[in-house]
This record gives sequence, C-alpha cells and structure tokens, in this order.
Amino acid sequence: VQIAGVLGQVVSTLSPTALKKGVTLKVDAAADLPELLGDPDRLRQVFINLTENALKFTPQGGSVTLRARGVEGEATPGDAQGFALLARVEERIEVRVMDTGIGIPARERGRVFDPFYQVDSSSTRAYGGTGLGLSIVKRLVDAHSGAIRIEDNEPQGTQVVVTLPLGRPVEAVRSASG
Ligand SMILES: Nc1ncnc2c1ncn2[C@@H]1O[C@H](COP(=O)(O)OP(=O)(O)OP(=O)(O)O)[C@@H](O)[C@H]1O
Ligand SMILES: [Mg+2]
Repeated sequence: VQIAGVLGQVVSTLSPTALKKGVTLKVDAAADLPELLGDPDRLRQVFINLTENALKFTPQGGSVTLRARGVEGEATPGDAQGFALLARVEERIEVRVMDTGIGIPARERGRVFDPFYQVDSSSTRAYGGTGLGLSIVKRLVDAHSGAIRIEDNEPQGTQVVVTLPLGRPVEAVRSASG
C-alpha cells in the first residue's frame, strides 16, 4: 500500500466537508515513501475516521494536516557474533493527523479509544457522534501491528500519531570486524 495515495483519497473524500466548514485540509507526504503491507480499504477507513474527527473538533479558520514520514527503528545493540544491526533502515511509517482544534486533555487520552467514550458527555455537548470511531480505528491499527497515540499540537490542537510497520525486518549486516 502506498500511504500517500491513501491519504490523497482521504483528502478528496473530505475536502467538501472541510470547505463547507472553512477549515484548510492538506496532505504532506513524500511520494517515495516505502510501501506498507496492509489492507488499503481498512487503512483508508482509519484515516477517514481520524480526519473526520480532526475536522469536527476544529473551528472555522483552522487547519488539518495529514503528514506521513518514514521513521527509523530503534537500533538494537550489536550482538556477540560480529554482526551489527543496520540501524538507519526506514522501518516504519508514521502518519500524523494534526489539527488546530479544541485539543484532548492529557488525562482523557487513555480513554478516548474506549467504545462510546466521549470527552465532555454532558447534555450540552456541541458535537454529535457515538464515540465509536476511535475504538474501531484502534482495532484496525492493531490488526496492522501498528500503534496509535495522541500528542499535543503546537500551539493548539491535537496530533493523532499512527505508526505502521513496513512488514519487512531490519536488515542485519556483517560488521567490518566480522
Ligand atoms: N481531533 C480531536 N480533537 C478533539 N477531541 C477529539 C478529537 N478526536 C477525538 N476526540 C475526542 O474523543 C472522543 C472519541 O472520538 P470518537 O471518534 O471515538 O467518537 P466521536 O467522533 O464522538 O463519534 P463517532 O466517531 O462514533 O462519530 C470524541 O467524542 C472527542 O471527545
Ligand atoms: Mg469520530
């Protein structure tokens, strides 16, 4: 799966919503990112959901950015057999859904992936929905052996960070001494 293509489809699907709301929606992804192993429909569902949330919780005049990058895996210390692990392999793809909206308080970040959980479930709550989107997203990301977390966006808003493995192992190379 070429993630840049998936994110492009998400933006075409949701740009009418963004336009109606007066929120800028853009994608920032290198075209030459390595391919992921995965289900393109499910991955599209993940980023549609996250982008719908970002648009929903971002007021007029704000922006939503989908950013994809290759990230290097953690280096494993060289082993005893004269092998060194090549640490600079692009091991994962990281996609950030960044918005300038109302944000998610740190104490809520562990709970928003629970089914039906919504921040501020008061009767005066201004946003619709059922609270299921992120629980489905979490299951789909898990099914891809990926991870999902929430960070602050600076100076305001939310970043939902999804990391997806490329599905190939880090290459081991013989060190010069071995
Ligand atoms: N980008 C975001 N900015 C601020 N709050 C968010 C954002 N994304 C999710 N949330 C919070 O997390 C809650 C759970 O999100 P989730 O997508 O599961 O449910 P929902 O969007 O309320 O409903 P549904 O997705 O079922 O339509 C939201 O109700 C909201 O309180
Ligand atoms: Mg949602």
